[in-house]
Amino acid sequence: MPSAISKNISKAVRLLKKGGVVVFPTETVYGLGAQAFNSKAVKKIFKIKGRPCDNPLIVHIGRANQLNSLAQNIPNEAAKLIQHFWPGPLTLVFKKRKEVPSVVTAGLNTIAVRMPRHPIALKLLRQLKEPVAAPSANRSGRPSPTRYSDAVQEIGHRADFILDGGKTRHGIESTVLDMTRKPFRILRQGSISKETLQKVSPQIFDHPRQKKILIARSPGTKHRHYVPNCSVVIVSPARWLKTIQKQKTKPIRIGVLSFSKTIPNQKNIVFIKKLNRNKERYAQQLYSSFFEAERLKIDLLFVESISEKGIGSAIMDRIKRASAKK
Ligand code: TXA
Ligand code: MG
Repeated sequence: MPSAISKNISKAVRLLKKGGVVVFPTETVYGLGAQAFNSKAVKKIFKIKGRPCDNPLIVHIGRANQLNSLAQNIPNEAAKLIQHFWPGPLTLVFKKRKEVPSVVTAGLNTIAVRMPRHPIALKLLRQLKEPVAAPSANRSGRPSPTRYSDAVQEIGHRADFILDGGKTRHGIESTVLDMTRKPFRILRQGSISKETLQKVSPQIFDHPRQKKILIARSPGTKHRHYVPNCSVVIVSPARWLKTIQKQKTKPIRIGVLSFSKTIPNQKNIVFIKKLNRNKERYAQQLYSSFFEAERLKIDLLFVESISEKGIGSAIMDRIKRASAKK
């Protein structure tokens, strides 16, 4: 690792030890972190993000043995998942230890933990030797930054320091799996698909069918999420051309995120982002395209839908939420 980056990591460690709040890259999205056992520091995260206090945070660790200081009653099946997916974009929910400040878990008796794979995040956590509570580094309800420039624009001077990790690899958040009761349930789809998890642990299911139960287990799911500062409209590949052409004469600024070959030649289309058909690449480009659309002051952003297989399902979850009305 270049010495300039190591120096910045050491600075971030010093700031975190003093109760500061630091933005750092992970392999999914940028996070806004504070020491998990310092409730005063954790409260700053909620303030900076404007995050509702009933939305719990994910705690990040650099070594698997730190899990025991945060969680208890860890089921045997967790070992296999940890061995397979950590470090990586899988967040596991367990019963919380009472020593963890309740502000971190928004008063829940469970705790979400993950070990990120990004070299800067891992080095930061291993040097600090303490768990770090970190939500995505966006203001509440907005898309998550996946590029340094987006993180700076989104959080800017409100954090004590921002570590530059360039572009993140996955582009959407980690998968959140509830292991506090069987069957284990996915509470948030993410960059590891259900199918991939099931290959290692076949007894994993989608989130609870009843919305009430899902919200009780993961209160954050009830809030608006991933919404950029423009209207997002999802269009299927079959209706793509017709839908956009209908807007031809309107005096608005249109953006399109598409993997279709043909984009109509219209004056009011001012932003075209050609998405990759490959779902991993699509996910990686999604939030940064939202930020780009905002910068170009787009009024209406058409996003082409993708099949819900594999991580296509997590991508569709994000764009459906981004297009949800207030
Ligand atoms: O990829 C990620 O997970 C990123 C990076 C920074 O690690 N973090 C992230 O955090 O996406 P955030 O705060 O934006 O999303 C946390 C999700 C929310 O859906 C929240 O409800 C859920 O995790 N969560 C946190 N603690 C929980 C708990 N104890 N029980 C159930 N769900 C929990
Ligand atoms: Mg978030």
